[in-house]
Amino acid sequence: MRNPLLPFFCLLLLAFIVTPNRALLAGPTTETAVLPVWREIFARPKDPLADLPAPADNPFSEAKARLGQALFLNPRLSGDDARACVSCHDPERGFTDGLKRAAPRDGKTELANAPSLLNLAWSKHFFWDGRADSLEDQAWQPIENRQEMAGAWPKIVADLAADHDTADMFRAAFGADATPSKTTVTQALATYVRSIVSPAGRFDRFIDGDIDALSAEERAGFRLFVGKGGCAGCHWGWRFTDDRMHLTGIGSIPIKTPGLRQISKTAPYMHDGSKTTLDEVISHYTSLSGDRSLSPNLVRPLALDSQDVRDLIAFLKAL
Ligand code: HEC
Ligand code: HEC
Repeated sequence: MRNPLLPFFCLLLLAFIVTPNRALLAGPTTETAVLPVWREIFARPKDPLADLPAPADNPFSEAKARLGQALFLNPRLSGDDARACVSCHDPERGFTDGLKRAAPRDGKTELANAPSLLNLAWSKHFFWDGRADSLEDQAWQPIENRQEMAGAWPKIVADLAADHDTADMFRAAFGADATPSKTTVTQALATYVRSIVSPAGRFDRFIDGDIDALSAEERAGFRLFVGKGGCAGCHWGWRFTDDRMHLTGIGSIPIKTPGLRQISKTAPYMHDGSKTTLDEVISHYTSLSGDRSLSPNLVRPLALDSQDVRDLIAFLKAL
């Protein structure tokens, strides 16, 4: 069967070929010439919220997303009413919690780093190792997880039904006869998470043709990102992820490429939270050896001088 990603790989290859290296870059003229190729790969859809993909048995609706948002903030989904989804996925931090690893209820079990929830409507796999294949299959898991929310459905359903405003929201979202249940809670949460989309920013204006939307340093960083750094080999598309699993030298199992939007807000980084800064993330990529088990998409050895690193970080912060 034909690889559905083939056209993208061809474009990516073409873009690598036509992107001039730093010495050849004369300035804005060259950039304007190359930009249309990059636009094919990185352009944000005009209005992503207007066209959110959703499964046939849980179509998108505003009422469901509103209910899902209310549930996302509601500690009654947890066993001791002490935690809500937002405890670990704070909108102010790109929907992360600022911790190396999420805090377990027993204070000792090792959880993963809480990932950002931006732009997941277009993802195919969820959790760092991709073990859930839909947001519906994801949303109930932290509720039941003993170290995350330790919720129990009979209590959750009773609490939600007893709250008049919440019960009304269930009816608005799912119909006059609807009541809170594991299914409706899960579907509403998944619908809300689907609606979490990163806003258009300076990078989007740049890729649309407004070269000056990025500084010279940020543009140099973009050229490294798509050129010598090879970052776009996995972090591509307007969400900056190929949605695939790769071994990148941290831990022993393949991890889903995270999107990089609002990356300056989501430290610490990586599934184990082992990198505190973007500088440390880049040092990791430059330190990788020839280990053949790692993803072939990684540029190795990756030689970046200190100016390159500054440029690359400036670019990442512009996302
Ligand atoms: C105790 C902190 C904590 C709470 C509470 C929590 N999460 Fe998470 N969340 C995490 C961690 C840690 C991961 C990564 C787990 C893994 O991959 O093994 C994660 C992963 C996710 C993902 C997958 C993201 C991706 O890119 O694949 C989604 C979606 C998500 N959480 C939504 C929710 C929702 C919805 C709730 C509430 C029902 C919630 N989370 C509650 C810590 C938390
Ligand atoms: C082979 C595919 C691949 C390539 C090439 C690649 N990355 Fe990554 N990137 C990943 C994966 C997979 C992770 C998650 C690794 C983990 O958590 O263990 C990641 C994580 C990151 C993170 C942390 C994101 C977060 O939310 O924690 C940043 C930042 C990042 N990469 C930037 C870059 C830069 C800059 C380059 C180029 C120098 C690059 N990546 C090249 C696949 C790739």
